[in-house]
Amino acid sequence: MKTYDIAVIKGDGIGPEIVDEAIKILDVVSKKENFNLNYKEYLMGGCAYEATGNPIPDETIEGCKKSDAILFGSIGGYKWDNLPRELKPESGLLKLRKELGLFANLRPVAVFDELIEASSMKPEVIKGVDLLVVRELTGGIYFGEPRVNDGQKAYNTMVYSKDEIIRIAKVAFESAMKRDKKVCSVDKANVLEVSRLWRATVEEVALDYPRVELSHMFVDNAAMQLVRDPRQFDVILTGNIFGDILSDEASMMSGSIGLLPSSSIGGIVGLYEPIHGSAPDIAGQGIANPIATILSASMMLRYSLGKTKAADMIDSAIKEVLSEGYRTADLAKYHAKVVCSTQEMGDIIVEKIKKA
Ligand code: IPM
Ligand code: MG
Repeated sequence: MKTYDIAVIKGDGIGPEIVDEAIKILDVVSKKENFNLNYKEYLMGGCAYEATGNPIPDETIEGCKKSDAILFGSIGGYKWDNLPRELKPESGLLKLRKELGLFANLRPVAVFDELIEASSMKPEVIKGVDLLVVRELTGGIYFGEPRVNDGQKAYNTMVYSKDEIIRIAKVAFESAMKRDKKVCSVDKANVLEVSRLWRATVEEVALDYPRVELSHMFVDNAAMQLVRDPRQFDVILTGNIFGDILSDEASMMSGSIGLLPSSSIGGIVGLYEPIHGSAPDIAGQGIANPIATILSASMMLRYSLGKTKAADMIDSAIKEVLSEGYRTADLAKYHAKVVCSTQEMGDIIVEKIKKA
C-alpha cells in the first residue's frame, strides 16, 4: 500500500482543534481508498517560539522539505504581538513559504447555496459565485528589501521581477483553462512602477493562452467590484499584498471565513491551510469551524497526492452536512438544524464518508 508522508503543523490558537478534525477525515478516506498517510508533527508559530525561542525551528523546515505535503492549521496570538518581527509567529509562516518556494497561493471562493443567507452580502448578488484568487506569495512588499523602521522613519519596498510575474501568471492562466477561461489581473498600474511591469508581463504571458480572456483592474476598483458584482470574476491574479486583502474580502461571500481552504504551491512540496487565522478568542472551546481545514486537506489530496476520488468524497460529504443543517457556532444562525462542536462536525463528516 502506498504511503505518503504528511508534515502536520497544528500551530497556535484553534489550529490544533481544527487540524485534529482534518486528520480524522483523512484517516477515513485513506482507508477507503487504500493508501496510507504517515503524519509527523512539527512546531511553527507562537508555540514554536515558546518551546525553542524560534518561530520556525530548522527541524520544521527540513521535515517539511522531506514530506509529500504539509497540512497546516493556524498561527499567531495576542501574546506574541509585541515581539520583534523575526520572532513573531507570522515570520515562521513567511519563512516557510519562502524556503519552500511556495510562490502560488490558490484561494477558491464558492458560495454554498445552503449558506447564502449567512453572508453579509445580498443573496441575489452572491448566488453562484465561484472564483479563484491566485495570489503571488513569496515576493512583493512582504519580502522586498530594503525594509527599515528606525523609529523616525519606516519603509518597505515593493519589488517584482519579470520572472516572478511570469511564473505566477502562468499558474493563473493554467487554472483558468480548467475553469471559465477568464483572468482578471489586479494591480495599481496607474500609480506604481511595479504594477506597470506586472501588467505588461501578464499581457505577454496571455499570448500563450489565446483561449483565456484577460482583463486588468486597479486594486481599488477590484475591491469595489467584488462586492458590487462578484460573479464577473473567474480567476483573479494578483500580487502578495493585494491578494492578502482581496481574499479576505472575497471570503465573506461564503458566509464564514471558517469555510475557505487554500493551497500554496509551486515549490518543493505543497502547503495546505485554511485562510482564517488562529482565533485566539475562541481557542480551546471546541467551537471553531473545522470545515476550512478539512477542505484544505481535500485540496492536499487532490493537488499534492493526486487522490481525486478521496478529495471528491470529502467535498461531497461537506456539502451534504451543510445541506442537512449541521452548523458550528459561527453559522448557527443560518438554517441550523443541529448546532455542533468542532469535534461533532468532524464526526458527522466522517459518518457521511463512511456511508457514501
Ligand atoms: C494570510 C495571512 C498571512 C499573510 C499572515 C499571517 C502573515 O494573513 O495567509 O493571508 O499575510 O500572508
Ligand atoms: Mg491574510
